[in-house]
Formats: sequence, structure tokens, C-alpha cells
Amino acid sequence: MKFSFWKGFLVGGLSLLIFAGLVVPYIGPFNMAATAGKGILDWWGNTNLMHSFKWYAPDGRIPSTASASQGQHHFKEMCLRCHGAPGVAPKDWSQNMLPKPPPVWTSTKTWSDGDIFYVIKNGIKMTGMPSWKEGHTDKEIWGIVAFIREMEKLDEETKKEFQSYLNGQKNQGHQH
Ligand code: HEC
Repeated sequence: MKFSFWKGFLVGGLSLLIFAGLVVPYIGPFNMAATAGKGILDWWGNTNLMHSFKWYAPDGRIPSTASASQGQHHFKEMCLRCHGAPGVAPKDWSQNMLPKPPPVWTSTKTWSDGDIFYVIKNGIKMTGMPSWKEGHTDKEIWGIVAFIREMEKLDEETKKEFQSYLNGQKNQGHQH
């Protein structure tokens, strides 16, 4: 039987795909430790996340009923320990996550309101970013989005309030 170039190309390509997709995970060459540093899997996941918004994130903008001050309250209790705030450092342990929780008030500048809403509501697979949809209405989540959009102008009083909230959390005093 004569194999044409294209048939060979197809069979070769398919075998490579099956090997990379189904066999490699059983061999285990990809280091999954949080201390391993970023690799191709992180690039793959992040690139896929950014392009998945057009399929899954809502188009809408922050509705007028959303309350940024209610969002601030939620941010303090649910997000601050990982993401911090301008002038307020997050908990030490969050900086040992891979990927690290970014400063969301700058990292999402080019994102649409709907993209931020979608990520808060649904979380991000394999990153440690939880979904906050349990127990929170869409209106409350839009309030957090509204607060994130205002965070760059955070006043000194709120920064102090955030800092003392973090200092007061029990696991702050972890000793060796
Ligand atoms: C346990 C730590 C943790 C908590 C708590 C947490 N996050 Fe995250 N968050 C992460 C991690 C990790 C990422 C993923 C970063 C990445 O993909 O590079 C992330 C990503 C995000 C992103 C996408 C930003 C970007 O630039 O990729 C947004 C927006 C976000 N979080 C908002 C929130 C909000 C709002 C809350 C609170 C309701 C919250 N997060 C609570 C860890 C956390």
C-alpha cells in the first residue's frame, strides 16, 4: 500500500495528539507543584480563559442597582486576604500560590465588566480562585465589580480599615 504525504501527516499528527493528550499525563513529566514556576500549562489555561469570555461571560455592564459600598464590604471579607488592595498587602501565604492572586484593580483594566462578573461568580479552574455564586446574588456580585472599578482611588480610611481587618484574622499570628 502506498502512503501519500498527507495521509502520513494526518496519522503522525493524530498519534502526536493522542500521545500528548492521553499518554503524557500517565507518564507525569509536568511538575504540578506550586513551587515549580509557570510553564506551558499555565500559558494554556490563561490563554484559554481570556478567549473563553466571548463564549461564557455576559455582555452587560454594571447595572445601576449595583452598590459599590456593599461590594467593598464583600471584598474585605471574601477577597482581601488573597488579592490585597492598593497599599494593603495580602496574606503571605497567598503569594505562594501559583498562579499568584493578582492586584485585580489593575490586572482587569482591559477586561469588560461582564468578564470580571463572570470570573467572580464562577471562579477559575485549577488556579485557587473560588466561585462565589453560593449565597451571593448577581446584584451583590455586580457590586463587587463596581468596587473593583473604583479601587484605584481607595481612601486612606478604607485602607486602614482593610489593614486592621487583615491583622485581626486569626491565622495572621502563625508561629514556628
Ligand atoms: C484563596 C485565594 C483567593 C480568594 C479568596 C479570591 N481569589 Fe480571586 N483569584 C485568585 C487566584 C489564584 C486567581 C488566578 C490568577 C491567575 O489566573 O493568574 C484569581 C483571579 C481573580 C480574578 C481575575 C484577575 C486576573 O487578572 O486574572 C478576579 C477578577 C478575581 N480573582 C476576583 C476576586 C474577588 C472579587 C474575590 C472575592 C469575592 C476573590 N477573587 C477571592 C485567588 C483568590
